[in-house]
Amino acid sequence: MNEEIPNLDGFDEAALDRAFGQLERQAREAAVAVSDEAAVEAFRLEWLGRKQGRLNEVSSRWLKAAPADAKKLLGVRFNALKAVVEVLLDAAAGAGQTDAALKAEAIDITLPGTRRLMGVDHPITRTLNEITSVFAALGYSVGVGPEVETDFYTFECMNFPPGHPARDTQDTLVVAGQERRSQRDRLLLRTHTSPVQMRTMEQQPPPVRIVIPGKVHRNDAADATHSPIFHQVEGLCVDTNITFSDLKGTLDHAMKALFGSAVKTRFFPSFFPFTEPSADVQISCIFCGGKGCRKCKNSGWIELLGCGMVDPAVFAFAAEKQPGYDPKKISGFAFGKGVERIAMMKYGVSEIGSFYSGDMRFLGQFV
Ligand code: DAH
Repeated sequence: MNEEIPNLDGFDEAALDRAFGQLERQAREAAVAVSDEAAVEAFRLEWLGRKQGRLNEVSSRWLKAAPADAKKLLGVRFNALKAVVEVLLDAAAGAGQTDAALKAEAIDITLPGTRRLMGVDHPITRTLNEITSVFAALGYSVGVGPEVETDFYTFECMNFPPGHPARDTQDTLVVAGQERRSQRDRLLLRTHTSPVQMRTMEQQPPPVRIVIPGKVHRNDAADATHSPIFHQVEGLCVDTNITFSDLKGTLDHAMKALFGSAVKTRFFPSFFPFTEPSADVQISCIFCGGKGCRKCKNSGWIELLGCGMVDPAVFAFAAEKQPGYDPKKISGFAFGKGVERIAMMKYGVSEIGSFYSGDMRFLGQFV
């Protein structure tokens, strides 16, 4: 028996209001005092416990004893009180847990926020994009090819036959365990982007205007200006009546677009197996304007890229798959340049390794 449930002193509305009102007040006061999980359980037992709970007591003492005509009125109030108690219990249980959980994950909104760094293109990527967009504006499209390449595409079809001394100018990293393959099928890390010239020509008949940005590898010792992994941009233009003046005009325009309209270019005879004639291109020193300084070794000129008219032997390889590359009908020029060298000049970087170090103090300057 729960001693705190008094007997009813009547079944009229006023008596019921008083009796149920008092119980509800008691329940509300008890719920407010609930502070932890144990108290929640105690509250539940006290009010809703199956045997000794107050509501059970109310049911057996008041409801069952009521005369038939008062039962309905009592039942309605009883259900209302029970609903109130259940809401109080839910609130008390929720409040207890949420309080602890809230405390655990409380945020001090007066602390400064976490600053998210802006992502920007790496200076090499940026330079690659600048170069390709200069040529894109001239109607060139962008080509790509594999970094693990065959001996055939890297050398043979670019007119470096097996054993040719020009192969020695590109100290090559080869993939091991290829002895069973024929020499032309052996895999290596491409030493230049030139193989993509042939891959492109095999895919499409002339005319071709393409720039090829990409990563290349050489077995070179790293120093301030060399890295065994670096980037090149290759260019190829093939059409009818392409002449050396087209080559000069195109590269002169590209150098002015990249380094400013005051820059001059000059062309020197050179040698590449895949071009004939071949040339090295120099630009007037962007640091001293051509007067002579430490950067240009007092010459006033800086050597920047290689180029030339596509050798007929290269077209002959392309013509095996695309007969349109008949050197009697078409001609073309090609060029290739190192991207790191250009980026170093543009951004005044003196150590090539800075590009690959991942050092945020260096990279942060390009934001
Ligand atoms: N492939 C040459 C190298 O890596 C660069 C080059 C020179 C590419 C002249 C060309 C070219 O397409 O015409 O040294």
